[in-house]
Amino acid sequence: MSADLSPIDKAKFAAAKRATDFVEDGMRVGLGTGSTAAWLVKCLGELVREEGLKITGVPTSSRTAALARDVGIPVISLDEAKWLDLTIDGADEYDGNLNLIKGGGGALLQEKIVATASDQMVVIADVGKQVDTLGAFPLPVEVIPFGWQTTKVLVEETLIGLDVLGRTASIRMNGDHPYVTDEGNYILDLHLRRIGNPRQLSLVLNQIPGVVENGLFIDICDAVVIGYGDGRVELR
Ligand code: 5RP
Repeated sequence: MSADLSPIDKAKFAAAKRATDFVEDGMRVGLGTGSTAAWLVKCLGELVREEGLKITGVPTSSRTAALARDVGIPVISLDEAKWLDLTIDGADEYDGNLNLIKGGGGALLQEKIVATASDQMVVIADVGKQVDTLGAFPLPVEVIPFGWQTTKVLVEETLIGLDVLGRTASIRMNGDHPYVTDEGNYILDLHLRRIGNPRQLSLVLNQIPGVVENGLFIDICDAVVIGYGDGRVELR
């Protein structure tokens, strides 16, 4: 499957394939969103079709739900599953404490709910996502459309006095219109460059009216499968 891939896709594929080792018969598995998670869903689909692996998947986006059904993974909602054995998902950044920035693909809300409702969360990522300090990747914050411009100002004002380097937010666009999430919300991308205290930032952001959730995953991830361009993997 990986012969003609670019080094970055080889790394993503290798991490995804290795992460299937965490999946056992009978598990309810949260299925992440993004290009790395798409590799995982394809690998799991192959195991379901060809080796009779018996799992049920809980997708974290409409995109992942469609892909999972396409490759033959039985899909149920989180409310049907109630609690999950394992979630496997990608990330935009991970640090040495396994704290994450997620939401580059716009699915952070369902991703955080599903990961939190899991006994274990495993992140799959190419080594380029590894950072000493979170924040070079713009932090996605999901906001409700009502009054979003006011929410944006409130968010920017809240950043004053916090341990971050940049303090601007931009609305994520899809062509001429704001990008709309699966929940019908918008996303503000916060250009912070460096997040000195991710836990504090996450708590403070979620206090702002209009903010639904932010893309900081603190104390949620249990392990990272790191993929390299030559197909090697490392577990952290
Ligand atoms: C989607 C996410 C993704 O997991 C994150 O953006 C990584 O994506 P990719 O695997 O394509 O690099 O958080 O909301």
